[in-house]
Amino acid sequence: KKTVEDVELKGRKVLLRADLNVPMSEGEITNDNRIVQALPTIRHIIEAGGKVILFSHLGKVKTEADKTDKTLKPVADKLSELLEQDVTFIPHTRGEMLEDAIDDLKEGEVLMFENTRFEDIEGKKESGNDESLGKYWASLGDIFVNDAFGTAHRSHASNVGIGANIETVSGFLMQKEIEFIGGAIDSPERPFVAILGGAKVSDKIGVIKNVLEKADKVIIGGGMAYTFLKAQGKEIGSSLLEEDKVEMAKELLEKSEDKIVLPQDVVVAEEFAADAKHKTVGVDEIPSDMEGLDIGQDTITAFKEVLQGAKTVVWNGPMGVFEMENFAHGTIGICKAIAELEGAKTIIGGGDSAAAAMDLGYADDFSHISTGGGASLEYLEGQELPGLSVIDEK
Ligand code: 3PG
Repeated sequence: KKTVEDVELKGRKVLLRADLNVPMSEGEITNDNRIVQALPTIRHIIEAGGKVILFSHLGKVKTEADKTDKTLKPVADKLSELLEQDVTFIPHTRGEMLEDAIDDLKEGEVLMFENTRFEDIEGKKESGNDESLGKYWASLGDIFVNDAFGTAHRSHASNVGIGANIETVSGFLMQKEIEFIGGAIDSPERPFVAILGGAKVSDKIGVIKNVLEKADKVIIGGGMAYTFLKAQGKEIGSSLLEEDKVEMAKELLEKSEDKIVLPQDVVVAEEFAADAKHKTVGVDEIPSDMEGLDIGQDTITAFKEVLQGAKTVVWNGPMGVFEMENFAHGTIGICKAIAELEGAKTIIGGGDSAAAAMDLGYADDFSHISTGGGASLEYLEGQELPGLSVIDEK
């Protein structure tokens, strides 16, 4: 894919779509990772003498009232602080004020306009990929840099719509995501081990099926492991079970028995509560009135052994209810085990596991932590992402 490095930027109005959809609480940004990850591309355009016109969505905007806490203004302020440079914030998504400010931009200056989803209030223009909106935004610049990997699974006016009208290249973050996640799925260095967790099998079916075809081992933990244990005929007590997925789990186990690695012991609790009474039992001894909320120590050790010698590791989804201290050991143990692997490409496929690694202070020990949630999942499923396809099309 053509990148921001392959094109002339000097003096040009560069439309830059980033995914700055950061978590916020009471007007404060609670994790600025997506802004930090967008910096290399922004800095490159500044240094190359381009005029940066930056935009993103933030949350979902359905009514006029939503606008109050969905403004991108705090993101512009944070960016300005990180760049140590002024960022002109325009509180509109179209119109004269925005157009005039773009005309006034000088080389190396940065302008950010308001949340693209403000265009959804009068009929989903942004998220419905309204043709005239994509065309309008494209008309504001000379070239389009799409660096919004986290949004690549969406076909919206601010990525696909603009790309349909103007030369489109990728930014550094997009490149990095393609290199690591795309690389792991398409041409992994082997052994390739995938570790999948999270509550529901139904959320991850596509990923499980795709990685079973690509990986050498697929470790399954988290809530979804219990549906697989049930498929093996085990008593799982009141653990999470997706009854309608048991057959599928059986088929996958039969087809790929040598690849799938399941827990050997689990931490069971009397109820789903942080202070619930709990104990560790083998997977053949789960009491009928208790539920599994984490993997046990023997399982952590066994999973670690599978990881030894791996050259590519993809991790997606926690191993237990890691928000509760008593049931966080599995996720912490696995995070640490992957972080400590030497000579392996280690990739976290976004979402909860990315947050866990950052909270635990292991972020720097991974080769790549994806900025995508839904986008990483769909990428790992082997699906085509519209926000990626649009790059280089024109
Ligand atoms: C994300 O956080 O996954 C992306 O920013 C996409 O957001 P969305 O699910 O609201 O489209």
